[in-house]
This record gives sequence, C-alpha cells and structure tokens, in this order.
Amino acid sequence: MKLYVFMLFYLLQVGTIIQLALSVTCPEDNRVKMGVEDANCDDANTNLTMDWDGSAVNYTCYSTVPFEINLDIKTLIEHDTIPNPECYMPPHYCMNIKVDYPNMLPTYQGHRPLWAVFGEYYFVPPQRWLHNVEHGSIVMLYHPCANPIMVNKLRKLVTGCIRKHVIARDSMRLTEERPLALIAWGVRMTMNFVDTSEVIPFIMKYALRGPEAHYSKEGQYSHELIRKAAIPFGSTYDDSKLCPFVYI
Ligand SMILES: *[C@@H]1O[C@H](CO)[C@@H](O)[C@H](O)[C@H]1NC(C)=O
Ligand SMILES: *[C@@H]1O[C@H](CO)[C@@H](O)[C@H](O)[C@H]1NC(C)=O
Repeated sequence: MKLYVFMLFYLLQVGTIIQLALSVTCPEDNRVKMGVEDANCDDANTNLTMDWDGSAVNYTCYSTVPFEINLDIKTLIEHDTIPNPECYMPPHYCMNIKVDYPNMLPTYQGHRPLWAVFGEYYFVPPQRWLHNVEHGSIVMLYHPCANPIMVNKLRKLVTGCIRKHVIARDSMRLTEERPLALIAWGVRMTMNFVDTSEVIPFIMKYALRGPEAHYSKEGQYSHELIRKAAIPFGSTYDDSKLCPFVYI
C-alpha cells in the first residue's frame, strides 16, 4: 500500500516536471491592436491603394473560354514552416508600411490590423485575408478564368463548411494549371479541379487553426464585398460544427 502511494506521488511529481518543461513562455503581445479603427494606422478606408489600386485587372477574365480541366493535374498541399510556432504572432502593419510576401499565397505572415468581413468579394489583397486566416478562416481564391462549374462546386463546399470564410478572385496569384486554392493557417492547397474527397478533409483538418483560431468577431474591411458569409446550416456563428451537412 505504502509503495503504491509512493509511486503515485512519484508519478505526479514527474508529470508536473514534464508539464513545466513543456510549457513555453512567450513574449508579451505588443502588436498594434487589432480590430480597432484608427485613422492614423488602419481604418479599413485610408490608403487602401497601398495594397491594391482597385483595378478590375485583378478580378477579370479577359479570355472568352475558361481554363481547361485536366484530371491528370494533381492537387498540391504545401505546408509553410512557421518560425517558433508556439509563440509566433503575425505582426500588424499600419497602412503607411508596404507589406510584401515571398510566396504568392502566404499562409501565416504579418498583415493589416483590420481584417475582412467574412464573405465573398471581387478581390481582397492578401494583407487583409491573411488576418482572417489567423482567426481560423478558410480563404478560397480562384483565377477569374477558372472553370465556373469548378468554382461553384468549391464555393458550395466552403460556404457549407464554415462561416469564417473569405472567397475572392485573383488573376495574379493563381496559375492556369491550378487556378483554385484554399488557404488555412500555415497551409495551402492548389487545385486544377475540385475533388470533394480532398476538399472536405482539408477544411475539417485545417480550419480553425492559427493563434486566434477561435476568435469569431466580424471584420471591418468590406471593400468590393459581394455578399456576407452566412452560418452554414447545422452550425453556429462560432463554426462549432465544420461541414455539418456537406458530404464526400
Ligand atoms: C493586380 O494585377 C496586376 C497585373 O497582374 C499586378 O501587377 C498587381 O500586382 C496586382 N495587384 C494585386 C494587389 O494583386
Ligand atoms: C497615408 O499615406 C500618406 C502618404 O504616403 C501618409 O503620409 C499617411 O501617413 C498615410 N496614412 C495612414 C493612415 O497610413
């Protein structure tokens, strides 16, 4: 009996030591406050041309035929290596600073303090939608010349799976080979065509990730918004159930 008590005590001690060793102390979050409209930094209206000049070039297809579907082109899933992932918080940059990304489809870097209202747009610059990604969003981007059947199929999956989504066209960041993309915290998936059995698992696995993944507050940026996101049937404002009535 005594031995058991001793062993239990010993195990508890070891457990605490392991826990202490595993817990990481991160530096304080000193970023520009997010979600606060500040004309001296970012009010989702001033100096927007810093990120996008508003040109229709970025969301228009100038070809009369959509891109071809090629079932031989495999879907790509790429993970970015997030530096110091336990503590990493993407910086918030005011509108007087230019923000560029090494990758056409960034997945975790710094962005503007105000994020996009969830929903579908003509175009959203990455400096905005990346903030949504930090809040656990799924961002769907498609080339304006992508096949509309595929675009509709992907849109239906995304909107049926998660309220916290941003959907937009982008003619520069996507290729003819893979004109469709989903972006979540640290990961991107680019596709030639939509395979439901790839898309749903991707959303289930990677949505609601990121340092503020369960922050559900609405965004402030709504430039070129087409429609606001709705709560998927069977879920809640907080996306408590992903893809409730969407089936492979
Ligand atoms: C819009 O498209 C033009 C032409 O491809 C490109 O130079 C520019 O960087 C794009 N703007 C954004 C914000 O993507
Ligand atoms: C807007 O741009 C002007 C000119 O570059 C700059 O002086 C001003 O500080 C910027 N304002 C904000 C809120 O970024």
